[in-house]
Amino acid sequence: QSLKIGLIPADGIGKEVIPAAKAAIIAVGSDIPKPEFIDLVAGWECFTRTGVALPEETVEILKNECDCALFGSVSSPSRKVVGYSSPIVALRKKLDLYANIRPVTSVAAQSGQKPAVDLVVVRENTECLYVKEETLTVGENGKEARATRLITERASRRIGQMAFELAKSRPRKHLTIIHKSNVLSVTDGLFRETVRAVPSLPGVDGKYSDVTIAEQLVDSAVYRLFREPEIFDVMVAPNLYGDIISDAAAALVGSLGLIPSVNAGDNFVMGEPVHGSAPDIEGKGIANPLASIRSAALMLRRLDYTKAADRIDNAVDQVIREGRYLTPDLKGKSTTSEVLEAVLSKI
Ligand code: NAI
Ligand code: MG
Repeated sequence: QSLKIGLIPADGIGKEVIPAAKAAIIAVGSDIPKPEFIDLVAGWECFTRTGVALPEETVEILKNECDCALFGSVSSPSRKVVGYSSPIVALRKKLDLYANIRPVTSVAAQSGQKPAVDLVVVRENTECLYVKEETLTVGENGKEARATRLITERASRRIGQMAFELAKSRPRKHLTIIHKSNVLSVTDGLFRETVRAVPSLPGVDGKYSDVTIAEQLVDSAVYRLFREPEIFDVMVAPNLYGDIISDAAAALVGSLGLIPSVNAGDNFVMGEPVHGSAPDIEGKGIANPLASIRSAALMLRRLDYTKAADRIDNAVDQVIREGRYLTPDLKGKSTTSEVLEAVLSKI
């Protein structure tokens, strides 16, 4: 029995940090089935080389041969490039990875203490403005650009179920629904109502009766996140708000280079650091590998390899707490490989 893990480093620092995640998985040894890694390609560089950003072969191998996967980061251009579309957005759809789960946790000064920030953003991963239906026309106001924002009951319900399930599993059991239904009463209204209705779905039978529910408009949610992050436990949000809130929350704990995520569906899980390809530090060997290492742990945790996940997370926490080996984004002087070595020695 082996654990088959697809590796898609893609672009930029993805190529520097995914090998670190791989090393951490190898280091947990007998706590998981023997890992078997399958190298796969996708991304902007792949597109410039082959004309395809997400080769069909990559999708097929992920679907048919892998138990799980790790994705690095892509360098998507900000201008429109004919034929190019972000492979990560496409992969989430093709593998039906409808939830993006992003824990943002600070490390307490001493082990055993309560962290100041300990929340999880559960982001809907398949619709909202990211359906990418945009049109450009010319009218009496000059150019007119429009985008479709799709919110469905089905997607809102399943992300709601995922969020309630997660809230139930955490000590505080508190769920905050993020929306802007005071302005967008139809789209955000549907999201809000559908998530709120999850506890009374047929078959749920009081399962979530111990989960407390709050809601917060997205703008004031960001404000409160900065002023009193401790009020949040699980936050569930439509795609775009979830994207923005989780990057904002990353600032609270020091660096985007610390924040892991998993893209999860009912049948597959793909770990992915929240950060992008960081062209400003690419190739310098100083990218923080901890977000990717934590993404590997989060992926293993979702597959119920709890002990292996705990070992990786505890090692990362120790390295952060000691503060001797940190990359420059955390005001340290260490390289990617020095931080990795420190983590491996703790594992
Ligand atoms: P970014 O996340 O790549 O970088 C933002 C800032 O954080 C930069 O100063 C960068 O140096 C720093 N940073 C990020 N990760 C770090 C790490 N591990 N260690 C140390 N510092 C780190 O976001 P940006 O600059 O907006 O986007 C760059 C490219 O990445 C764009 O092409 C964008 O499309 C792409 N991107 C891809 C994502 C993905 O693959 N899921 C997500 C976000 C952006
Ligand atoms: Mg983002």
